[in-house]
Amino acid sequence: MSRFQHPDDVNAPTWWKETFVYQIYPRSFQDSNGDGVGDLNGITMRLDDLQALGVETIWLSPFYRSPNDDNGYDISDYTDIDPQFGTMADFDRMLAGMKERGIKLVIDMVFNHSSDEHPWFQQARQSRESLFHDFYIWREGSPDQPPNNWPSIFGGSAWEWNAPTGEWYLHLFTRKQPDLNWANPRVREAIYESMRFWLDKGVGGLRFDVLAMFAKNPSYADIDLSKGGAALVDMFDAPQLHAYVQEMHREVLSKYDIYTVGEAPVDAITALDMIAPGRRELQTIYHFEHMLLDRGSLQITQATALDRRAFKSVLTRWAEQLEGKAWNTIYVGNHDQVRPVSRFGDDKTHRVASAKMLATLLFTHKGIPFFLAGEEIGMTNYPFATLDELDDVNARNMARLMLSQGKSEDEVFAAISSITRDHGRTPFQWDATPNAGFSSAERTWLPVNPNYTHINAAADRANGDSIWHYFQRAIALRKHTPALIYGRFTDLDPAHPAIYAYRRDHTTGSYLIMLNLLGAPVDYPLLDTFPNKTRILGNYADDGPLRPFEARVFRVES
Ligand code: GLC
Repeated sequence: MSRFQHPDDVNAPTWWKETFVYQIYPRSFQDSNGDGVGDLNGITMRLDDLQALGVETIWLSPFYRSPNDDNGYDISDYTDIDPQFGTMADFDRMLAGMKERGIKLVIDMVFNHSSDEHPWFQQARQSRESLFHDFYIWREGSPDQPPNNWPSIFGGSAWEWNAPTGEWYLHLFTRKQPDLNWANPRVREAIYESMRFWLDKGVGGLRFDVLAMFAKNPSYADIDLSKGGAALVDMFDAPQLHAYVQEMHREVLSKYDIYTVGEAPVDAITALDMIAPGRRELQTIYHFEHMLLDRGSLQITQATALDRRAFKSVLTRWAEQLEGKAWNTIYVGNHDQVRPVSRFGDDKTHRVASAKMLATLLFTHKGIPFFLAGEEIGMTNYPFATLDELDDVNARNMARLMLSQGKSEDEVFAAISSITRDHGRTPFQWDATPNAGFSSAERTWLPVNPNYTHINAAADRANGDSIWHYFQRAIALRKHTPALIYGRFTDLDPAHPAIYAYRRDHTTGSYLIMLNLLGAPVDYPLLDTFPNKTRILGNYADDGPLRPFEARVFRVES
């Protein structure tokens, strides 16, 4: 057993349970060299700003060498820096700057697939005799009939014909993202080598991209597409995945004091098999259950209305089912999603109140809070006007597919513009100077949201009542309140359609949290049933009925 794990005591205090994770999408954070794309030196420049907010852990989306078909989630060299983002010396300087400030760095491990421009694939696709051929997943057949009906998550078939070898290769994302063959021990050893490269530099954690997909169902049988998104799991082999992750833990993870999180669209019971400490796999799972409620399936094509009661019940279920057994994560936004204030709040009339309410949820619920740069100043969705403005490969593929199915351009725009991942990726709004202080370039890789003139970090930091200051307070409150980290979670009113009312109880104290998830006031008598309570955080000045998106946090004596 490793000295870094406490298999029998889920509640044993460790740094990663007490931290929260600030996500940076490097293209969008800060451009230091005026080319319109954010970079590593830009991040280094901004470390003091992050420290002022209270940031102790940063998750940095991919910065490795990449042709950028999927903005870095298609890697052509796992141990090099993409020139757009800088050099290895820049990386080392950034990491040193983080260490000086006590900030840990979590990096993205994208090992379900590589880029088709990775030298492994370049060689593999030339000949069946190549030493690297078996690094990928191939099937024979005729060029007009894919081996099975597996769909790519980004639309279309998951198979692409490769003429030089007369075979199909599997790509669960774009055709420039061929899936690596985890069944090959040489592939796994090469992956572990890349992981050690970064861990030996002193990286503090690893986020495993689309972890649930590493092990494929060996039958490669057709799946039942009439089941919709639920059918996708039939492409995978869960027992085999556990074997891989346990090996990875034994060979690599257990040797470092790091935080680990796997991206997997699973339910809490399934997650336990991977994150219960005795399993020796991962520490946490980053699930999608609450994020899919208003999206349908992983192959997202449109948004639907969100049922707040269902949203509460997913978050409550995870807290209850993991209680005493494993550790959770909680988030409402990332680089694959639209901005949370535009989706779960109201980015017009109640932007400030709703952004603060969402911060309260993240920092008082059970689990490690994650949020994407920009949430702390309430950045909103971008007012896209045409399909041409979209950059996201998923959005563009989906749009192409829908147009080919005969949908009109207007229909396609209406569906795709509300869900495109571009909303979460527009440049960070630092101040009211041109390009929001993100870049001195004439054109930035994605346009800056025109609302930067009033929504920006400088304005928020100058105003003590801003979203930024509220995040800072919520961060400090959680950090200094063991009950908000380790305390038991109890949902007080699961049936209520708008109010999320819950408690956190711990030997050090009890807390009561009331969140109005909707934009209308609610008279809420349950509040009065706690006579001995002291208000410690909130987004409105005084008491009374719960106002639109109101959040109140109390310390309670009973
Ligand atoms: C993950 C990433 C997403 C990427 C996909 C394929 O879901 O978060 O951005 O497109 O994996 O790597």
